[in-house]
Amino acid sequence: MLQQKSTSNSLASIIDTWSDENNPLYDTLQIKVKDSEKISNTAEEVKNIISENPAFLKVEVAKPGFINMTMTDEYLVTLLGEIADDEHLGIPQAGGNDTIVIDYGGPNVAKPLHIGHLRSAIIGESLKRLARECGYNVISDVHLGDWGLQIGLVIAELEERNPDWECFRPDFTEGTVPELDADMLNEIYPFASQKSKTDEVFKARAHQATADLQNGRPGYIAVWKEILRVSIADLKGNYSKLGVDFDLWYGESDADKYIDELVQILTDKNLLHESEGAMVVDVELESDKAPMPPVIIKKSDNSSIYATTDLATIIQRNRDFAPKKIWYVVDKRQDLHFTQVFRCAKKAELVPEDTELELLGFGTMNGNDGKPYKTRDGGVMKLSDLIETVTSAAAEKLRSSEFVSEKDHDEIARRVGIAAVKFGDLINHRSKDYIFDIDKFLSFEGKTGTYLLYTVTRINSIIRKTNSEGSDAKVNAIYTDAERELLLAILLTGDVFRHAIDEKAPNYICDNAYKLAVIFSKFYHDNHILGETDETKKQNWIALISFTRKLILKHLDILAIEPVENM
Ligand code: ARG
Repeated sequence: MLQQKSTSNSLASIIDTWSDENNPLYDTLQIKVKDSEKISNTAEEVKNIISENPAFLKVEVAKPGFINMTMTDEYLVTLLGEIADDEHLGIPQAGGNDTIVIDYGGPNVAKPLHIGHLRSAIIGESLKRLARECGYNVISDVHLGDWGLQIGLVIAELEERNPDWECFRPDFTEGTVPELDADMLNEIYPFASQKSKTDEVFKARAHQATADLQNGRPGYIAVWKEILRVSIADLKGNYSKLGVDFDLWYGESDADKYIDELVQILTDKNLLHESEGAMVVDVELESDKAPMPPVIIKKSDNSSIYATTDLATIIQRNRDFAPKKIWYVVDKRQDLHFTQVFRCAKKAELVPEDTELELLGFGTMNGNDGKPYKTRDGGVMKLSDLIETVTSAAAEKLRSSEFVSEKDHDEIARRVGIAAVKFGDLINHRSKDYIFDIDKFLSFEGKTGTYLLYTVTRINSIIRKTNSEGSDAKVNAIYTDAERELLLAILLTGDVFRHAIDEKAPNYICDNAYKLAVIFSKFYHDNHILGETDETKKQNWIALISFTRKLILKHLDILAIEPVENM
């Protein structure tokens, strides 16, 4: 933003890099000029042009070719005023109302929601909010895994345990299905999955049940609907504790009605051919360095697989929403699958040439041993148990706080715990693995969710003590260095959002929220707002910290972190 305001196009052609990072106070911008030969002459020339701009207090050439520019206080204050009046708080509206479908969450029905799905939910939710903030029209779709073998396993096991249920009669057409519950499903899936590994007959039955379900056997469809009802209610409960929600609760099963069309398109375009009994599409490119297997559309028993439903879903999404982009927030180990699916989709022209199909792959959340995070007894941690664990760790930590009343204690502990987990995750670039360390995540110091929530409560407290909640005071002047530094960090926030959305990376938002919090702390340490006797100055500062709070809260909202009033 600063750059656009202060640069004319003719300057852009001779400028090599802009930087604000070299100065610890961030109070100057540095420009490095291209062409080392003519550097000082050019720098002088540029300096002369820039100096004419009243926004600059000082423009100096620093050898060999740097130009340091210091902006006037008035200019900075004017910019802040513009941002404060802007409904988007200066966040560039890069989206131009284009539609993005974000596919995240991806839980599997009938299986408990586990840690592996946590990252998808946290990162996806944040990207959705970020993209909306930047002016995109975003549709979020949970894309349930509700059509695969896991359902066949559960149905086959239910049938073995309850052969007398009406829905299991081959001639069942309609009727009621006994009510299931989440605990039952949580027990039955791991049991059936284990059993299928040693019991071939059972395994064959589970495959048959999957195929029968996909072919519409009424009794199985009825049980499947009951499994879906119970699972979705359970999932919604867990997601809402995480502050995650979806516009669409579609599943792989919803893609079923597009599969015939998919096969027809692939056939018409001569892309489908038989290979070892299966129907496949070649997606290899000459430039491939590693082997690229063909994508399987139909297996030899005519059943569909993961790639089939993903391709059919692309047809549905394109038809319903004509999105410019479809982003998939999925474990990066599924990279091959998505490469195959995207190549096939483009080859078959399921979407226009310029539609962006992209896997936003994420790394693994590991335990202290560097291996994927497990429960104490070595099992896969369920998400609901993790939420429980972090909430009680946060409750313990807040126990001694004089600011947390008994009445609010549980809710504050929940928010602090969830904030710790989310920030601990999002501060890392999504593609990286990280170590889940609840003590570190809950620390009041360092880059943590706790520190950010705490910073907001400190601002709340100053505003309460000065009775200035809702005050319409404005920033009119800059009195101190720390204040100037805070103002500059605020003014550069729009660029951070731009960067975050361009790279689809919420970690920039985390970093900037932390930066604002640290600079606020420094500012508050250096300037005694409460004891300030110069009323104009005091109001100026209150306006500045109110806006800082608003901006930090905006960052937290993008990260789907709920603030607390006190802690
Ligand atoms: N259900 C899948 C899993 O648990 C994730 C789904 C991701 N989305 C997609 N369109 N394939 O691995």
